[in-house]
Amino acid sequence: MFNSLGQFFEGGSVLDLYAGTGALGIEALSRGSERAVFVERDRGARAAISENLRRTGFAQRAEVLGGEVESVLGRLLGRRERFDLIFADPPYRIAAEVGGILHRLHSLLSPGGRLVIESGEASMEGAGGKKGVTRRYGGTFVTILGRSELTMIVAVCPGSFDPVTTGHLDVIRRASKIFDHVVVAVGSNRRKEARLPAVERARLLEKVTADMDTVSVEVMEGLLVDFARERGAQAIVKGLRAVSDFESEFEQAQLNRTMFPELETVFIMASAEHSFLSSSAVREIASLGGDVSGLVPEGVLETVRQIYSGRDGKIQGS
Ligand code: PNS
Repeated sequence: MFNSLGQFFEGGSVLDLYAGTGALGIEALSRGSERAVFVERDRGARAAISENLRRTGFAQRAEVLGGEVESVLGRLLGRRERFDLIFADPPYRIAAEVGGILHRLHSLLSPGGRLVIESGEASMEGAGGKKGVTRRYGGTFVTILGRSELTMIVAVCPGSFDPVTTGHLDVIRRASKIFDHVVVAVGSNRRKEARLPAVERARLLEKVTADMDTVSVEVMEGLLVDFARERGAQAIVKGLRAVSDFESEFEQAQLNRTMFPELETVFIMASAEHSFLSSSAVREIASLGGDVSGLVPEGVLETVRQIYSGRDGKIQGS
């Protein structure tokens, strides 16, 4: 396997995920890689990697990171790191974390880079059904994927979702048909105070998107462009209703583009029946005891009714 990857070592950088003893990354360093980053959750294993690096004399060219792989990858993306080779463990692990991982790996690969997935079994099913070449080395199957074979177009769908409406859900569902993965980012709009904490708004969204395999929900703190970068996203997707939405959306899109030019903002036109539906209308109707069925997804109707029926529901903004 190392022989067939020869050219990638020269001067390149390597990311060794679920590193264990660090054997793969250390082998890459010994074959000419300039730098290696090891990611391992287990503290004892991390100590072993550091010791192995010290013994082999590669400690200066290596970094050992702890924590959950998903968030470490986010950190590396935030640092704008790129790797020529990424080693990853058996597909079942990748499959289990597919939503959080593959799109980040895609963004972490340098343009001509390769993702190497090692496994005791040949099946790549569940690993995003990606192409690539699988070869057998003794009892181990190794799949090598180029960046283009790992194409995951990820979009972030941001909003306050205070509360989520059937219009939001429609946009999320339609976005999930276009993009490989959609991360719904529950943020806070500084221009309006939310009625519910972000974690609770996210919980409602999780409930109504539970049937969508390629949609995940996260709370967003800080700038949208940073959130998107850390998730390896290529697009921001937003719903656009009547003309009145346009000015503020256009402004946000331009500002985000200034900060992160490669990140495209894509608008999905609201369906006619949702053109005049907004979270603020739902809050107002609910707070005055009106019926919001049809305006919010069925699965959270009762919760929204209860939470938003207090008369202090804010009624400005969307
Ligand atoms: O549903 P909303 O209220 O229109 O959502 C607004 C939100 C949360 C998407 C927007 O305020 C946002 O992106 N906040 C994150 C902070 C940020 O990046 N601000 C600069 C955007 S120009």
